[in-house]
Amino acid sequence: MFPKDFLSIADITADDIHNLFDLCAKLKAQTKRGQFVPYLKNKHVALIFHKPSLRTRFSFEVGVSQLGGHPMYITDKEIQLGVRESIYDAAKVMSRFVEGIMIRTFSHDDVRQLAEHADVPVINGLDDLLHPCQVLGDLFTVLEHRGNLNDLKVVFVGDGNNVCNSWLNAASKLPMHFVLARPEGYDPNPEILENAQAAGISTIELTDDVEAAVQDADVLYSDTWTSMGQEAEKAKREAAFAKFQINAELIKRAKPTVLVEHCLPAYRGKEITDEVMDGPHSIVFDEAENRLHIQKAIMVTLMDK
Ligand code: CP
Ligand code: NVA
Repeated sequence: MFPKDFLSIADITADDIHNLFDLCAKLKAQTKRGQFVPYLKNKHVALIFHKPSLRTRFSFEVGVSQLGGHPMYITDKEIQLGVRESIYDAAKVMSRFVEGIMIRTFSHDDVRQLAEHADVPVINGLDDLLHPCQVLGDLFTVLEHRGNLNDLKVVFVGDGNNVCNSWLNAASKLPMHFVLARPEGYDPNPEILENAQAAGISTIELTDDVEAAVQDADVLYSDTWTSMGQEAEKAKREAAFAKFQINAELIKRAKPTVLVEHCLPAYRGKEITDEVMDGPHSIVFDEAENRLHIQKAIMVTLMDK
C-alpha cells in the first residue's frame, strides 16, 4: 500500500513508481486535452516554503487548482514551524484545516516529524537531504523521451546533494547504471549510498574522472554546485567543481542519443553551458513541466480517498 506521505523514493516500491508514471501520463494527456478531473474537489493543500522556489511553487499551485482543490502558499514568516509553536502542535492544527501539506525546508528530520504528527498526507518538496518529486519527474521525462527505462546509464555530474540522494534512492528501486562524477569530498549521504548499493538493483559508482564516467551515458544530469543554504561556500565550491561542467565537449563522449537533464535553476556557464542547455540533447524544460504532472499524480494517489 502506498504510504500516508510522500517523503522519499526510498519509502515506496518499484510498483508504486510505475503506477505513478502511468497516472502521470494519464493526467498529462487529460491536461493537454483541456480535461480537468476534480480529484481534489473542495480540498485545501498547504504549500509551506522555507526556501525560494519557482518550479515547485508554480507546479503545486497550478496542480492543486487543476485538480479542483485550493492551494495555500505559506512562507516561513507565517507559521514559523518549530519556532512560534512546536512541529507537533502545528501538525495537529493544520490537519484540522487542510487535507494535505507540501513542505520545502532545510531539515529532513523536521519533514519526518511533521508527517508523523499530521493526520493528513505530507509531501516533501525538497529538503537538505532529498528532492523526491524532482527525481520522479526526471525519470518520467526520460521515459517519455526514450520510451522505456531499460539498460539506462545515468551520469550525475556534480555535487552529491539532495537531488543526487534522491537519484540513489530511485536506483535502489529501479535498475540502472548510476554514476556520480564529483570531486573527492562532495559525496552523497553515506547511508543512502550504502542502502542503494545494498539493494542490489542497480550498478552504482562514484568517480572523480568525469570524462571516463560519461562514456555511453544515456542521461547526463546536472544541478547547481551550490545548493540553497550553502551560499557561504560558493567560492570554494566553484573552484572544486570547475572541471565538472556539462559542455559540448563532454557530451561528445556520451551516446549520440544522450538526454541532458538539469533540475533547474541553472547557473549557465558554471555547471552547464548555454550551448548544451539550449542544444538538441537538452530536455530541461520538458523536465520542468513534468513537475506539474508527476505531483498531480502524487497528490491524487495520496489524497483522492
Ligand atoms: N527544481 C526545483 O525544485 O526548482 P525550484 O527550486 O524553483 O522549485
Ligand atoms: N540542489 C538544489 C536543488 C534546487 C532545486 C538545492 O537544494 O538548492
